[in-house]
Formats: sequence, structure tokens, C-alpha cells
Amino acid sequence: MGRVIAVANQKGGVGKTTTAINLAASLAAAEVNTLLVDCDPQSNASSGMGLRKDPERISTYHLLMGAASAEEALQLCELEQLWLIPSHKNLLGANLELVDAERREFRLRDALAPLRERFEFIVLDCPPALDLLTLNALVAADGVLIPMQAEYFALEGVSELLDTVDRIRVALNPGLGIEGVVITMFDERTNLAQQVAAELKRHFGERLYTTTIPRNIRLAEAPSHGKPALLYDVRSRGAESYIRLAKELLDRYVQAQGGAEAGPVEAA
Ligand SMILES: Nc1ncnc2c1ncn2[C@@H]1O[C@H](COP(=O)(O)OP(=O)(O)OP(=O)(O)O)[C@@H](O)[C@H]1O
Ligand SMILES: [Mg+2]
Repeated sequence: MGRVIAVANQKGGVGKTTTAINLAASLAAAEVNTLLVDCDPQSNASSGMGLRKDPERISTYHLLMGAASAEEALQLCELEQLWLIPSHKNLLGANLELVDAERREFRLRDALAPLRERFEFIVLDCPPALDLLTLNALVAADGVLIPMQAEYFALEGVSELLDTVDRIRVALNPGLGIEGVVITMFDERTNLAQQVAAELKRHFGERLYTTTIPRNIRLAEAPSHGKPALLYDVRSRGAESYIRLAKELLDRYVQAQGGAEAGPVEAA
């Protein structure tokens, strides 16, 4: 069974989409079959992967509405082992359209279920809100990966997300865990960033990834070329840091599965 990871933080602009795209690409580059699902009406992950706006495309919206299967929505990307299910601006309306729907929190989970055998990792890029879209992603997920900037009040901002995760675990998805917390746009030269990083370490312990993502212009440029950073400039610090993050995530996963002899494929 593949592992589903929701990249979530209700705060805007913290690096969710950059993390989702580049983590997914780094996993695929490590020869792990990976699916990236764009769950955000802004469609940044879709355009960042080079998809043109196409009103006809089958998207996460169709999945949530039960209008298409996940299989029909799959798009192969430039990297051989990476697939994408794109978003659509209609997704904004899904929050309202689903209000009275049956199993409204389980729509994405149900839609992705047939693909869980086929992919070793499914990465969900969430919108900056604790809305029904993020709720669907958290119900579909095994783990939530939280990108955070090393700023004052970072912890206060994330407490609402952690409370939501706890509530979802109790009510809707007992299997949901914290996959990990990653510091993004990190500037290690400032005292403030160092202090906040130390505080996050105290708070999250092992769940904070050792890998930090530096502020790096290549990471900001790559989406306008429709590429993950490793296809845009593989030697950039940004691309390298996401490759390290993917490795750390895979290593933890193999450890959790009980032993280094089993690769992620077997372990899944
Ligand atoms: N490590 C980084 N270095 C430089 N720029 C970055 C980095 N990470 C993200 N950015 C830039 O910061 C902006 C916000 O990043 P991103 O879109 O990934 O955040 P987000 O959390 O997905 O935003 P939203 O909440 O709107 O979905 C983007 O312009 C992105 O290119
Ligand atoms: Mg985003």
C-alpha cells in the first residue's frame, strides 16, 4: 500500500506547494512511483509542473464530485515515475457544493483508494485554509507534513492545524499521524531563525526533519518554467535540499517499517 502524505498548513505562502512539487519530484527521481495531487483551487502545483490551464481537464474537482475516476485524471509528468492529478478553479466551489453531500469528508480518500496499490507515495498539496478540501486531504492521508517558516509565532499559527489533526484522528481517520515538520525558506545566518529552529526542535523533537530548506532563488524560479527544481537546476541548494528531505523521509519510512533490508517498495 502506498503512503499518502498531505502537505498542509493553513497559513498562506509558507512553502506547501514548493515542498509538495519538489518532494514528489525527488521521490520519483529516487525511482519511487509517486503521485502528486493538487487539492488547491489556486492550481499552483499544476502550473508549477508545467500544465497549461485547460478548462476541460479532469481534475481533483471531478474526483470530489464523483464525476471521474482518479485513473482518468492521471497525467504523466516530465519525470518518468511522477504522475499528477491537477486542480481546477472549480474546486473553490466544491467547498459549498459538498456541504450536504454524503461522505463529504471521505470523497478524496474514496477516489484515491484504487491508486494506493500503484503508487508508493501520494503527495497532496493543500490550500491555505482548514476548509473541506484540506479536511478531505487529511482524511485521505496517513501522515501530514507541515512546512513552517522559522518566524516568531510560528508555533501559535500551527496549533490550530495540530488540533484539527487530533480531531480528525479521533473522529474520521484514526491512522493519521504527523509525518514530519520541515523548516522552509530558512536563513541560518540570522539569530532569529536559529532561535526559532531550536524552539521547533524542542517542541517537535524527532518529528522535525534535520533537513532544512534554504531560501533559494532557483526554487522560486523553477515553477515559472513549469519544472521541479531538480529539472531546472539540479545543482542548486534548493534542489539539493529537497533531494535530502526525500531521502530523510524515505529512511524514516524504511526504519518505521522495521529494518533497513526492506526497501520502500517492499516495505509498502
Ligand atoms: N525555499 C524557498 N526559497 C525561495 N522562495 C521560495 C521558497 N519556498 C517557496 N518560495 C516562494 O515563496 C512563495 C510561496 O511559496 P509556496 O507557493 O510554495 O507556498 P504555499 O504555502 O503553497 O502558498 P499558498 O498558501 O498560497 O498555497 C512562492 O513564490 C515560492 O516560489
Ligand atoms: Mg500552495
